[in-house]
Amino acid sequence: MRFKDKVILLTGASGGIGKATAKCMAQEGGLLALVGRDPHRTREVAGQTGAFYHSTADITRSETCGQIIQEIVAARGRLDVLINNAGAIVRADICDTTDEQWRSIMAINVDAPFFLARQAVQVMRNCGKGGAIVNVSSINGFVGRETLVAYSTSKGAVIQMTQSMALDCAKDNIRVNAVCPGATDTPMPFSQHENPVTREQMAQVWKEKIPLQRMGTPEEIARSIAFLASSDAGYLTGTSLMVDGGFTCQ
Ligand SMILES: NC(=O)c1ccc[n+]([C@@H]2O[C@H](COP(=O)([O-])OP(=O)(O)OC[C@H]3O[C@@H](n4cnc5c(N)ncnc54)[C@H](OP(=O)(O)O)[C@@H]3O)[C@@H](O)[C@H]2O)c1
Repeated sequence: MRFKDKVILLTGASGGIGKATAKCMAQEGGLLALVGRDPHRTREVAGQTGAFYHSTADITRSETCGQIIQEIVAARGRLDVLINNAGAIVRADICDTTDEQWRSIMAINVDAPFFLARQAVQVMRNCGKGGAIVNVSSINGFVGRETLVAYSTSKGAVIQMTQSMALDCAKDNIRVNAVCPGATDTPMPFSQHENPVTREQMAQVWKEKIPLQRMGTPEEIARSIAFLASSDAGYLTGTSLMVDGGFTCQ
């Protein structure tokens, strides 16, 4: 029960990795505050995990992030863990990537984790009991990929944000780390392709590219997130953990 009585804010709770993370941390005693975008799926995960709070407020806005953190602190008096998991992808050649697409990817993948972390760190510092932040980046924060210029840029920013935040927060015993998943079996890898691909086709493509010869499961990513958020990772800060079946070793 690594998260017994720990107050945990998790974004992207309505998606594949978010749902698995919520379940994993609830099983270990965490008190969950969940943020999603789709109201139905967010409510469903909140119900399945006994979350004390859920919201579908727009986390790309600074004021809303402040409000969410205030509501959690009003309910439980503290915040121990923030998991910045919400994220989106756009697939387009550099010349086809529109201003609107670029800004929307930066808003959810970079602005939202920064706005939430800034507020969370203030609360954690006031409490004086340390804390943990886990940012969900991607292998594409390390290695480029065609048609992913906006996504890769945003995920690279998350890795640098993680390191700088870790340095700002180390003296407060607030650890900040990132998880960098490789291809993981959620809706994201199958979405937004010019020619629609099935889950089976995508799994076959990745089987040939990944040393462990399969995509990751959302549960495997969830366990890595939980590890970094837990006291088992008490001496880790500023690190980016590749969870990619060996893809980036090649
Ligand atoms: N799956 C992979 O292969 C993979 C690989 C590397 C990194 N990642 C990262 O892992 C994280 C989770 O992704 P996933 O695989 O679980 O994908 P997913 O199933 O598509 O989930 C994405 C989550 O982010 C939320 N979200 C997206 N855009 C949003 C916005 N503008 N405002 C608020 N919430 C928004 C979604 O909300 P709704 O569903 O309610 O709209 C959903 O909860 C992301 O940061 C992603 O970049 C995934």
